[in-house]
Amino acid sequence: MDKCAIVTGSSSGLGLEITKSLLFSGYTVFGGSRSGTKIEHDNFYDVELDITSEESVAEFFETIREYADEIDLVVNNAGVCEMAPLGEMTTESFEKQFATNTLGPFLLFKYLEPMLVKGETHIVSVLSTAAQYGYPNVSAYNASKFGQLGMIESLKKEWKEQKVRFTNLFPGAIDTPLWDKMGSKFSRDKMLSASDFMSVFNFVVHAPPTIQFPELTFLHREGYLE
Ligand SMILES: NC(=O)c1ccc[n+]([C@@H]2O[C@H](COP(=O)([O-])OP(=O)(O)OC[C@H]3O[C@@H](n4cnc5c(N)ncnc54)[C@H](OP(=O)(O)O)[C@@H]3O)[C@@H](O)[C@H]2O)c1
Repeated sequence: MDKCAIVTGSSSGLGLEITKSLLFSGYTVFGGSRSGTKIEHDNFYDVELDITSEESVAEFFETIREYADEIDLVVNNAGVCEMAPLGEMTTESFEKQFATNTLGPFLLFKYLEPMLVKGETHIVSVLSTAAQYGYPNVSAYNASKFGQLGMIESLKKEWKEQKVRFTNLFPGAIDTPLWDKMGSKFSRDKMLSASDFMSVFNFVVHAPPTIQFPELTFLHREGYLE
């Protein structure tokens, strides 16, 4: 089989663009989402995934194992963001963002472990500048992404023996459907485009495997959106 990749959140936005690009580069891709990914390609497997549910993550990996034993590239991308001042943020919204952005990657990594290839597997996490920098009105999102980063930093040490290559991407705001759901006032002109993001993603994924990018922050030239 060709090189195998997993992309979480392949149905929309960055995950959809990443999946198309990896297929174009010759990867076999297992894409996970709840709503399904509208891509027809011989090397694409559209697999149901609710990253907040351990049962669903276990089934996702069971399906992948029918076709592949080892995974070369994992794009840890699925995520949600909801905006509200802290006093108006509901506990339900806070829990949903933690379940998706923090518990989700934990379950992903837990079930991925048996499929790691020593010295080969590359894990690219689409974090956010919100994993490094506090923005107003996204306290739960900020906390969930900082939490995800903490877990990855611990895992880097835990998986040292397997020589896993970790790339943490910290992009600023990007014009994707994520913003449609938030109804925010921000101008899309001050956001990166999905194609800006893809130029960085492709640079990282196709760079020689001897290079690692522990932290890559990139944002629109006008700066942080707030
Ligand atoms: N857009 C930005 O400004 C920006 C900036 C920095 C970082 N990011 C990060 O980039 C990543 C992708 O965001 P995007 O902008 O492409 O947003 P998007 O268009 O809303 O896509 C989000 C993806 O995550 C998936 N997802 C959400 N909840 C899920 C769940 N419970 N189980 C499985 N999949 C789930 C969605 O699939 P289903 O709904 O079909 O399940 C969808 O495919 C996120 O981690 C986000 O935090 C975005």
